[in-house]
Amino acid sequence: MTDTNDVLIFDTTLRDGEQSPGATMTHAEKLEIAELLDEMGVDIIEAGFPIASEGDFKAVSEIAAAAKSATICGLARANYKDIDRCWEAVKHAKSPRIHTFIGTSPLHRAIPNLNMDEMAERIHDTVTHARNLCDNVQWSPMDATRTEWDYLCRVVEIAIKAGASTINIPDTVGYTAPVESADLIRNLIATVPGADEVIFATHCHNDLGMATANSLAAVEGGARQVECTINGLGERAGNTALEEVVMALKVRADIMPYTTKIDTTKIMNISRRVATVSGFAVQFNKAIVGKNAFAHESGIHQDGMLKNRETFEVMKPEDVGLTGTSLPLGKHSGRAALRAKLSELGFDLADNQLKDVFVRFKDLADRKKEVFDDDLMALVSQNETGE
Ligand code: KIV
Ligand code: ZN
Repeated sequence: MTDTNDVLIFDTTLRDGEQSPGATMTHAEKLEIAELLDEMGVDIIEAGFPIASEGDFKAVSEIAAAAKSATICGLARANYKDIDRCWEAVKHAKSPRIHTFIGTSPLHRAIPNLNMDEMAERIHDTVTHARNLCDNVQWSPMDATRTEWDYLCRVVEIAIKAGASTINIPDTVGYTAPVESADLIRNLIATVPGADEVIFATHCHNDLGMATANSLAAVEGGARQVECTINGLGERAGNTALEEVVMALKVRADIMPYTTKIDTTKIMNISRRVATVSGFAVQFNKAIVGKNAFAHESGIHQDGMLKNRETFEVMKPEDVGLTGTSLPLGKHSGRAALRAKLSELGFDLADNQLKDVFVRFKDLADRKKEVFDDDLMALVSQNETGE
């Protein structure tokens, strides 16, 4: 399936994201986030883990029934009970998907205490069972990046033959590196019989801070589905951040000619809603959605931005749903930004007046982290009254 440059976006904020300790969302919040994901053009929403609890089952069922265009997916371990429960929840969707998985690395095989042959048989049986219920089955070998190469090829082939149409290759513990990530997908597609008939997905975790780079590299290697979460929400250091992958593909289309259906102007709103409902605040310097991602304080940067926005911005804030760049005033700011801000507030000062206000402004900025509009207005009136 590498003959297309369309990359499907699979969002798992409501499943892997919600697995972050403390990120639990209420039923109404999950429905709201699912609606926003659907509206922004996410192709597949992983809405939850139906066997995990009654609440998860109900949320997945209702999200499935309400979805307008996204495929709705639920997660299931490799057993019939999980898969049946998952199907009961997702079957209400116009386009349902069952996602079933099992840990295939030596460490993970030891947990259910299955040898390689026993696990291979389990994969065959459970994927076949899922496929008998639903036309759209995704299969994942959890901890794929630490699974022996020959065994990985063997189980991927079994899952494809049993009817999986999406093969997801998870980097469950954020262990892989970009060059490996690309090669892994490329080599699987080149080696496994039937691989060209299915979509390969990449699912990266951010333990070493490489989730976005690894996901993009996997796309280079032939993956055509990226699994991600809003704000990179997820267990430990989180999952690949949806907004980073989507904006990287948009901004660097010159070297990564892949397209997604995401309406990027909806990014900021959903980022804020996910931060609020999960209780996980977005760090100030987070790429794309952090408070400072489009803010410039230093004099040189502000001066450059006032002359040409491209001097210090590789994308437009409007493209992610912001109204514009922000030029907060602080001790690093220069006269050009102060003049621009004062003019925005309705004060067009003569050069000598501006000089005086600038001296007072610097003095204040040395004492305060940020100088706000009210502070500036006070400085101007002090100047006028000669205080
Ligand atoms: O990280 C992971 O391996 C997962 C699987 C369940 C796909 O989230
Ligand atoms: Zn995961």
